[in-house]
Amino acid sequence: MELSKEEQAMLAGEQGKATQKAMEILVALGTIYGAQRMIPVTSVQIAGVSYDNLGEAGLHFLSEMAEGGGRARVLTTLNPAGMDVENWQALGIAADFAEKQTQVIDAFARMNVLTTCTCTPYLSGNLPHFGEHVAWAESSAVCFANSVLGARSNREGGPSALAAALTGHTAAYGMHLDQNRVPQLTFDIYVDLQGNDDFGALGRVIGEYLQALEGISVPFIRGVGDATLEQLKSFSASLATYGGTALFHMEHITPEASQFSPPEPSVTITRGDLAAAKAALTSGDAGEADFVSLGCPHLSIKEIARIAELLEGKQVVKEFWITTARPTKQIADRMGYTAMIEASGAKFAADTCCVVAPIKGRFKALVTDSAKACYYAAGKNQFQTILKPFDEVVLAALGEPRVEMEP
Ligand code: F3S
Repeated sequence: MELSKEEQAMLAGEQGKATQKAMEILVALGTIYGAQRMIPVTSVQIAGVSYDNLGEAGLHFLSEMAEGGGRARVLTTLNPAGMDVENWQALGIAADFAEKQTQVIDAFARMNVLTTCTCTPYLSGNLPHFGEHVAWAESSAVCFANSVLGARSNREGGPSALAAALTGHTAAYGMHLDQNRVPQLTFDIYVDLQGNDDFGALGRVIGEYLQALEGISVPFIRGVGDATLEQLKSFSASLATYGGTALFHMEHITPEASQFSPPEPSVTITRGDLAAAKAALTSGDAGEADFVSLGCPHLSIKEIARIAELLEGKQVVKEFWITTARPTKQIADRMGYTAMIEASGAKFAADTCCVVAPIKGRFKALVTDSAKACYYAAGKNQFQTILKPFDEVVLAALGEPRVEMEP
């Protein structure tokens, strides 16, 4: 790899031990992936924040990097932690876990990382523009950034994202290069998509299709009439989870789609495919579920407003977590949504989510609108899962009979 004078100085340890370690990580990755050079990045999103995933070894690594003088050189934000930083007791988080989680967050703060603790950094001030090179971890956010924003990021891991933050660089390979952003397979969608659950189910269908094909990872998607920000974040999360996908093009919706002709032949996705994916994501009964959560990826303020509207004057009968970024919750506080939601007995779980919190085995079955949450709830936390449309998830928390949907 060709390194600039500044990059060589970092590698030689002239800018401190942590920066040296960071550059070593980037050079090793660049070498593995055949990068010719480094490129500067303008923002970083770091994942691997929950102490539940990091453990003692991860905390030790972060503390060492902070003590070694590591400081973020570019805008750097943080993924959800294992707890609501301000309200962990109400969520049943153990005090010893909270202490370790606090040490993790403090280590990041010492490195000038903004402790935003959200997987939707683009809703909290980390919003790269078209063509901007960034280094993000958190697969859902990477897929959203590449596809919906037209920024350029590989799917970084926790250490490589931190390394990019501490050096302001990343190795130029993968999604940073034009040739890897060309769509490889067209999907024609012959189904009317409604809510987050539909978009999540579509992500699963396309993701699993791509997983089965070697070397095909960038889909071109036709036939989706329109999509909201919330639906696109749900789709990005699901496609990244089930397909390992970092980039999709959606005709008339994502910014790079018009640069390409849809590759031939195409795969047709029907209502039956979507129904089968939804059925596969549901392994329990909503009536018997003991846990309800919305906010995977983290909720937008528009979604929180809708929850407040549905819960106003009512009482939930199940444990119901509303997961979002702290800044979004602060808007909800100001607008009175928080008071309405909390009066119902539902709980805000800001800074965290139902996947990264240490709740394995604590509940029997989760009701959610998120295909990604279903995947991890079943795999990591060993819950049964029930995928439902957004409004019906709220109804499930209220113990109200479900709204019958068209077959
Ligand atoms: Fe975000 Fe947690 Fe889902 S990090 S994408 S809410 S699994």
